[in-house]
Amino acid sequence: MAIYVPPTEREKKNPILPFGDHHDSPFYSMDVLSVSQFGRDDLDYIFGVAKEMRAMVERVGTFDLLKGKILANLFYEPSTRTSSSFLAAMERLGGSVIPINEVTYSSVSKGESLPDTVRTLECYADVIVIRHPEVGSAKLAAKYAKKPVINAGDGVGEHPTQALLDLFTIEEELGRIDGLTITMLGDLKYGRTVHSLARLLSQYDVSINYISPDILRMPSELVEELKVGGIRQAEFSVLDPVIGETDVLYVTRIQKERFKDAEVYKQVKGTYVITPDTLRKAKEEMIVMHPFPRVGEISMDLDQDPRAAYFRQMQCGLYVRMALLAMVFGKA
Ligand code: CP
Repeated sequence: MAIYVPPTEREKKNPILPFGDHHDSPFYSMDVLSVSQFGRDDLDYIFGVAKEMRAMVERVGTFDLLKGKILANLFYEPSTRTSSSFLAAMERLGGSVIPINEVTYSSVSKGESLPDTVRTLECYADVIVIRHPEVGSAKLAAKYAKKPVINAGDGVGEHPTQALLDLFTIEEELGRIDGLTITMLGDLKYGRTVHSLARLLSQYDVSINYISPDILRMPSELVEELKVGGIRQAEFSVLDPVIGETDVLYVTRIQKERFKDAEVYKQVKGTYVITPDTLRKAKEEMIVMHPFPRVGEISMDLDQDPRAAYFRQMQCGLYVRMALLAMVFGKA
């Protein structure tokens, strides 16, 4: 049994951590643009640091690992979790944040280009977190910026930090990733979180089920990519045939903002609603995840079920983003 030892005053100010300066680390000063940057050893390492971060947050709350460092939070699209968890992560590490959550109030509204915006922000900040509606925007930002750039979602492309926190959540909740059956449900065409997560999962011995309306199927290139990697995959239009074998039910929102035709959105809106009844045939030991926001695809009646892991998943986002920031600054 672990014995709780209260932190000393010195530890609170300057925690004794395995977090010295590691400027020779491969993570030091790196851009985080795609999950394809990370192999299994890297993932183990990130998750180990994330666990240390959780322990520190539970023990001392806030500590000065990144004191004096500044993060620019540049969001061209709405966000609650990613934006606020990066802000919380930086502040819990003792750093500070330039929040640009509403670009209409920045010079972007005057027509400033992305390269100019990031080269401006790096005059003031040490790392730039960017969310942008166009695929490849984070890569473009990184091309122009000398400081590290972290992709917080580029259109329907990738959302690598979300996938990292999703995988960390699975390991934390179920104790393993190998051998699991993951069922992804909802908007698999436009949902960037499922694209990144599927790629990360392909490094493990997993089976993946895809459940979506026909017009929102997982992109065929991605299915092919995973097939070449030997991942067992199956596609369905309803959940019933696979709910009993599912270890992780990963639900996504149908992304209204990505549809050009509102009528087409109306045809698929509300296709899936997960309720306590849906889980009657599910395993006792399984979890339901969702990157959020949800707009009706998981009933609030499910929130009290211990298998509903989506709020714990958000919490994991804080620790994983703290870990990534510490690593990018060469402190882990
Ligand atoms: N999961 C996620 O990306 O949520 P936000 O859009 O609120 O950041």
